[in-house]
Amino acid sequence: MTQPPKYYIGLMTGTSLDGVDAALVDFSGDKPHLAASFSLPLPGPLRAQLMQLQSPSPDELHLSHLAGNALADLYAEAVARLLVDAGLNAGQICAIGNHGQTVRHRPELGYTVQLGNNARLAELTGINVIGDFRSRDVAAGGQGAPLVPAFHQAIFGHTGEPCVVANIGGIANITILAADGTVTGFDTGPGNVLMDLWTLQHKGEHFDAGGAWAAQGNLQADLLQAMLSEPYFALLPPKSTGRDLFHGEWLQKHLSSARHEPVDVQATLNTLTARTLADAIRQHAPQAKAVYLCGGGAHNAHLQTQLQQWLPTQQIKTTAALGVDPDWVEAYAFAWLAWRCDHRQPANLPGVTGAHGARILGAIWPA
Ligand SMILES: Nc1ncnc2c1ncn2[C@@H]1O[C@H](COP(=O)(O)OP(=O)(O)OP(=O)(O)O)[C@@H](O)[C@H]1O
Ligand SMILES: [Mg+2]
Repeated sequence: MTQPPKYYIGLMTGTSLDGVDAALVDFSGDKPHLAASFSLPLPGPLRAQLMQLQSPSPDELHLSHLAGNALADLYAEAVARLLVDAGLNAGQICAIGNHGQTVRHRPELGYTVQLGNNARLAELTGINVIGDFRSRDVAAGGQGAPLVPAFHQAIFGHTGEPCVVANIGGIANITILAADGTVTGFDTGPGNVLMDLWTLQHKGEHFDAGGAWAAQGNLQADLLQAMLSEPYFALLPPKSTGRDLFHGEWLQKHLSSARHEPVDVQATLNTLTARTLADAIRQHAPQAKAVYLCGGGAHNAHLQTQLQQWLPTQQIKTTAALGVDPDWVEAYAFAWLAWRCDHRQPANLPGVTGAHGARILGAIWPA
């Protein structure tokens, strides 16, 4: 007998600050099913405010709450439009899992901050909201990130072959699914964040579509070596990072010693992302047979080509080969995290985040 649907909505606004991704997931069957998806771009002024809040600035407490309200309004709009597209109403949704917008990630100091007024989102949507997923893991001594490996295991852990799932958002993170069922994972470093900054500065565009601009440049070997000397890359996991480390000043610091053509810097930044991902995979998952890409970086053909060059024995594909569109994996994960919290099931992997133990993640704002 078919079960009535059990819908959860996952909302993701990642470090790229490109937009809100919303995924509608039905958990009624043996396996969850991505039923619908919707994406809403971040309006320019809100994007600028959030960019400013990434680093210390005057009156940031007040400004962060105003930005949180604006985000909640945008999240509510994304939910409303997703529901219209899917032909559903709020009463049919069990809960929204809302990641929020990270503006600080300092697990070593015991905190991580994701903006987005969840009370306001519950009020606007009339749907239970589950948010603040990372804080409990941090409180338990973990990095609070990445949280997606448990989800990757649940959804992609059935292939029977050792593989890696690589999410290339603003920051890149990998999940290693070993043949014996063990799961590890960590943030490898910059995904698109530096490439996006440079593209905006020199081309006035938000990203380098397909990596086409980068593909025209020449790799600057000295610059690459200097950037690879960043201590983060040599740290052993558990580890996580964000715009707190990889920001415009970090890039500027490396560029100050020599003059480079902008296109060559872009080529080098593309290689930096590919190299740090490939090095992490070679070091921690040499047995992997395939690497499945997801996140916006999965559309960067030049990055894919470079990854294949650095990882000649592994097949580079996207999660589409596993049945999930690479653009929706992260939002899907937050629907899954909400479902876990709603059922009081732990969702962190202590082996990934370094937390003292498994924890139920998230806080609930009832409708
Ligand atoms: N066609 C494309 N070609 C190259 N890069 C792309 C393309 N489409 C998107 N991207 C890159 O992907 C980024 C958005 O990716 P995504 O939404 O996965 O990241 P995110 O919002 O930072 O999420 P998270 O940090 O949670 O992984 C864009 O900023 C851009 O750099
Ligand atoms: Mg995004």
